[in-house]
Amino acid sequence: MYKITSNNPQDTRGLAQKIALNLKGGEILFLYGPIGAGKTVFVKALAKALGLKGSPVSASFSLMKEYKGKGKKMYHADLFRLEENEMFNLGFEAMLEDENAIIVVEWPGPMEKLIKSSVIKADFILKEGDAREIIFTASGAKAENFLKTVFG
Ligand SMILES: Nc1ncnc2c1ncn2[C@@H]1O[C@H](COP(=O)(O)OP(=O)(O)OP(=O)(O)O)[C@@H](O)[C@H]1O
Ligand SMILES: [Mg+2]
Repeated sequence: MYKITSNNPQDTRGLAQKIALNLKGGEILFLYGPIGAGKTVFVKALAKALGLKGSPVSASFSLMKEYKGKGKKMYHADLFRLEENEMFNLGFEAMLEDENAIIVVEWPGPMEKLIKSSVIKADFILKEGDAREIIFTASGAKAENFLKTVFG
């Protein structure tokens, strides 16, 4: 478990850059935390640092979008208010089978049971003002090694 303090959006972007440097493709990141915690700020900075075209937005129309560039590919999904039984026929199976892609999911609750591979989890906690605490945990050895490489 790694606990990171972010004092402002720029800190959160810096954290995303640090993580992006170590993403090779094939990683899955689950982002937890309340509305306005900074999950999308983090994802935007991740996409930028990965050299992807386009900037992720809070998904209101599409639940999932694909970003490409520099040989890297990232899927950003936002499953806010989606129920587990609504997970079918939305294209998530293809995303999960895309082994070289980086997958980042906000509000991942309904997807949790579908994932059999290793997952990097980040929990964004609101603190006073612009401060956030971001707690990283790993589920699986691959994610554990990843976090050790980044923060250890
Ligand atoms: N330390 C911080 N890190 C990230 N964002 C911050 C921070 N402090 C303030 N903010 C602000 O908080 C807001 C975070 O919005 P963002 O869309 O990233 O939230 P979210 O977690 O994706 O919410 P949602 O669940 O609605 O998608 C932005 O307006 C950002 O400028
Ligand atoms: Mg968001």
